[in-house]
Amino acid sequence: MATSSLDAWHGETPPVLSDGVVILRPPTPVDAPSIAEACQDPDIVRWTTIPTPYSLDDAHAWIADHEAGEHWWAAPTWAVTNGEARWGGTVDLRLDGVGGAEVGYLVAPWLRGNQVATRALRLACGWAFMALRLEVIRWYASVGNDTSRNVATKVGFRVHRDVLRLGLVQRGERFDAWVGDLLPSDLVEVTARRSPFTGPSLTPREREVLDRLAAGQSNRAISQSLGISENTVKNHVRKILEKLQATSRVDAVIKGVNGGLTSLN
Ligand SMILES: CC(C)(COP(=O)(O)OP(=O)(O)OC[C@H]1O[C@@H](n2cnc3c(N)ncnc32)[C@H](O)[C@@H]1OP(=O)(O)O)[C@@H](O)C(=O)NCCC(=O)NCCS
Repeated sequence: MATSSLDAWHGETPPVLSDGVVILRPPTPVDAPSIAEACQDPDIVRWTTIPTPYSLDDAHAWIADHEAGEHWWAAPTWAVTNGEARWGGTVDLRLDGVGGAEVGYLVAPWLRGNQVATRALRLACGWAFMALRLEVIRWYASVGNDTSRNVATKVGFRVHRDVLRLGLVQRGERFDAWVGDLLPSDLVEVTARRSPFTGPSLTPREREVLDRLAAGQSNRAISQSLGISENTVKNHVRKILEKLQATSRVDAVIKGVNGGLTSLN
């Protein structure tokens, strides 16, 4: 990863991401009861490495390690919701520090079957490619987890034909694993098919700001590179979001890419 990209976000509040249906936000202590409830689910126990049995204390300990703070940037982690306050899943990226990450996700039984995991995974990967300039994101699952494989494939991951023999460790036992990888261009193809942009045009200055959002720059970095104040940058960003009917910076970049207004290069 370009270290400077991560540096640009240093001290920033973790991003809240949305595609208009699901919202990704950092986990908070109020999520603990819902997390503890979901982690009784047999599928979550079977396919993830959560402790078992899983208690409310386990949920609080996990939240303390993953809520907003400086440490968040080493392993970006979001609570997935369907627009309501209640926690309904998790998606997280474990960064390797050199442009790659491994992704993990789970969705609570009460939100399953509505594309929630697919949408959450797409949002998180899209943000990581744009904001952190990741080059590759990898997905691992125990052989047999067809639902997870389905989710990963829908987002654009290429699942390798060969199994990674004894490639995953779960509670002290080794299991054969599927492995998939996603490059930025794979994700854009998926998004482009699904949400063509037909919105209004941007001013040249707004295009310059959008290009920098696509390059993963923070408001501070944009203000420095264009020689304008951070407040002016914020106003441009607000206007861009309004014009593209985007719900977040990432959403604006995705719509901008799909509409040919900017690119990820
Ligand atoms: C995997 C998981 C996150 C999916 O959540 P979700 O919000 O229901 O997922 P989505 O609705 O976005 O997509 C699920 C897809 O799998 C399909 N699916 C569901 N059950 C399936 C099964 N038994 N076999 C194959 N595909 C299945 C669904 O039909 C859907 O595909 P479609 O949209 O083409 O119909 C959720 O089931 C979960 O939390 N499982 C336990 C934890 C886990 O396995 N995490 C991943 C570890 S790698």
